[in-house]
Amino acid sequence: MFKVHAIAPHRLPDLLSAMPKAELHIHIEGSLEPELIFALAQRNGVPLPYASVQALRSAYAFSNLQSFLDLYYAGASVLLHEQDFYDMAWAYFQKAKADHVVRAELFFDPQTHTARGVPMGAVIEGLRRACDDAQSQLGISADLILCFLRHLSEADALETLEEAMPWRAHFIGVGLDSSEVGHPPEKFARVFARAREQGLHAVAHAGEEGPPAYIWSALDVLQVERIDHGVQAIHDAALMQRLVDTQMPLTVCPLSNLKLCVFKDLAEHNLGRMLDAGVRVTLNSDDPAYFGGYLNDNYLQTFAALHLSARQAYQLAANSIEASFAPEADKHRWLHELEHTFERFAEGD
Ligand code: ADE
Ligand code: ZN
Repeated sequence: MFKVHAIAPHRLPDLLSAMPKAELHIHIEGSLEPELIFALAQRNGVPLPYASVQALRSAYAFSNLQSFLDLYYAGASVLLHEQDFYDMAWAYFQKAKADHVVRAELFFDPQTHTARGVPMGAVIEGLRRACDDAQSQLGISADLILCFLRHLSEADALETLEEAMPWRAHFIGVGLDSSEVGHPPEKFARVFARAREQGLHAVAHAGEEGPPAYIWSALDVLQVERIDHGVQAIHDAALMQRLVDTQMPLTVCPLSNLKLCVFKDLAEHNLGRMLDAGVRVTLNSDDPAYFGGYLNDNYLQTFAALHLSARQAYQLAANSIEASFAPEADKHRWLHELEHTFERFAEGD
């Protein structure tokens, strides 16, 4: 285990920014900035119910998950062509590069697009081309995770998985997102079983707004390898014990939780308590264009609000790398770079 040396407190923000890290919970449609929404609307002749970029941005005041999702799906309606998906993902990768992201696993919601008549190939090929360019031009390792919309039926999810199979080599896993309460993981038992048969990784949103029971069924029924959010686990001691015993990764998104009113104040967020309890927590941005910050903003604001330490910074970054679905050789290299970054800051460079 790497020994984290003492870091001068005033250097912690720069260290947080400079650390190599993985982002494991980013909805690529949630990285669509208002400026790009307007540019794509104009390029594609899609009418928008907002007069300006400013008017759209000022509508971003949410009271819960659903109030956000309504705007998020409306924003995604400007995406029509392969190039649009490429441009959206490429804009995200530029931000990720600035934040020292070395590995990104991008969620995408094909049903949001295919339901509007956009071909599955346009979605996946545009995103995959951006991932390949992220590797070759920015040195970021990137892969795609296809998410099913849980407010739709399992039959729709099964059809979507089949429709995506010609592009099986272009994505590495499946996830489950959208409106959580009333749509428990077990509703998607068969489609997750089918995805696992195809050798796909499995993750699911659970315990964002929904109860701990949804985390249990994501683990037991869907057999996921990571829980997205999972912050409601803290209300169930037996579940907390299971997460610690199995070292099940949670992809926690503090600014998202703040903006969707899961916590009233960032100072009340339970990320620090979960880490201290031994849960394998990672820190992520979720939908950065809507929640006021990319990955480093999440690190900086969370550390300031919760008074977290350099040791916890190391733990979060190491957890993100270890919990990723990247090849083991890459993980070793990034962990080594992480240690080197801490050594550099301890020496006062
Ligand atoms: N889709 C995009 N962001 C989401 C979130 N935070 N929860 C559920 N579904 C989502
Ligand atoms: Zn999410």
